[in-house]
Amino acid sequence: MAYQDFSMDHHWLPFTPNRSFKKDPRVFVAADGMMFTTHDGKQVLDGISSLWCVAAGHNRKPINEAIKKQLDTLDYATAFQASNDQAFKASEMIAAMAPGDLNRVLFCSSGSEAADTSIKVALAYHRARGEGHRTVFIGRERGYHGVGFGGMSIGGIPANRKVYSTALLPRVDHMRFIHDPVNHAYIHGQEPVWQEDILLELENRILPLHDPSNIAAVMVEPVAGSAGWYLPPKGYLKRLREICDKHGILLIFDEVITGFGRLGCNFASDYYGVVPDMLNFAKCVTNGVIPLGGVICTDRIYDSMMQANSGAPEHAIEFFHGYTYSGHPVACAAAIATLTLFKEDNLFERAGNMGRVLGDVLHSNFKGLPNVVGIRTLGLAGAVELSPIAGSPGKRAFDIFMDCFHQGVLVRPAAENIVICPPFIVEKQHIERIVNVVGEAIRKNA
Ligand SMILES: Cc1ncc(COP(=O)(O)O)c(C=O)c1O
Repeated sequence: MAYQDFSMDHHWLPFTPNRSFKKDPRVFVAADGMMFTTHDGKQVLDGISSLWCVAAGHNRKPINEAIKKQLDTLDYATAFQASNDQAFKASEMIAAMAPGDLNRVLFCSSGSEAADTSIKVALAYHRARGEGHRTVFIGRERGYHGVGFGGMSIGGIPANRKVYSTALLPRVDHMRFIHDPVNHAYIHGQEPVWQEDILLELENRILPLHDPSNIAAVMVEPVAGSAGWYLPPKGYLKRLREICDKHGILLIFDEVITGFGRLGCNFASDYYGVVPDMLNFAKCVTNGVIPLGGVICTDRIYDSMMQANSGAPEHAIEFFHGYTYSGHPVACAAAIATLTLFKEDNLFERAGNMGRVLGDVLHSNFKGLPNVVGIRTLGLAGAVELSPIAGSPGKRAFDIFMDCFHQGVLVRPAAENIVICPPFIVEKQHIERIVNVVGEAIRKNA
């Protein structure tokens, strides 16, 4: 390691092997466009939009300027019993982008908070309508909804859950995962057509077990992002919507990764033509520069909560929930600038177009390489699945990630997958560089 003017003793890194990190640190000190500069002066290409966040690329002046202006105008204001103009403006923009009657935005600061907020809305909404017995939640194996206790319980990633045992929410069940490694290991854009109807399990086993009348909500990521970009079978989300409607169950889409352009349109909900009752977002909404998340609820949910309080005194609060930083003016100013920039630069359309380039290149270059057992691409994202090293789960992907980093390309190891999801400003030459470096690392780690 070269020059370093800071101590690494005190920062406990999240979701990171801290011991090995300190032996071979990866520390960024600057970023611009597609590139990072590291503490030891190397250039690294951001092949993952810095964890799916930096859609418009780094160091975008309109966003930076909007933040600076907002800091000089209204730096912060309490979110309870008062609000700020930026929160109203940002929520109006977000509601206008959201499909159907998803029109009411509850702000928070992260995807984890969005998950827990939507869980609480579901419980409060049912209770407001006299169905307070609806307390069961259904998630899916390998789903990721952040690290709060609610999202973690509905989430289905074993390593994230295993230590917390009885502290997880008690009334949660999980549908089976949406991957068929035999028939649909390689998916290029198109929705995989399964012979089997995997939602029969929900209808025939899970719903009767709990009784549908007790179920508050089903929460899924339309595309399973954190697990490694796994795509739903054709018709899956539409059928899930129908099942939920039949039984009065709320459908929550966690679009923290798919929201704001990754699939070439506003939301995965638009891509699949299915409107949920709540849509959780975070990540791209501020281009990653300031934490902001939220839950977009339907008018029906909002109206029910208001009506339930119609007999209550004027000063009665309808929903006992919120964060000190809900609708923070600087975060909302960043969101307004980011969403404006997305539109002005046509970045969602660009994500769709460059996604086709990425998909073509990944499939034509990686199929047949040693240990590659699957490739899944959709929108501007793709995962290359590798066979695990016996007795060392995740090691092959981790080693490939490290080799790529040393060669100046940041990719993401997710279990046995290498995930690539660059900023929407990515050029063909960047994709070629990513593919060359990843391909070399896959061969090296054969
Ligand atoms: C689908 C999904 N939900 C929730 C989260 C949690 O977001 P955060 O890390 O901002 O809490 C993530 C993070 O990757 C995510 O991918």
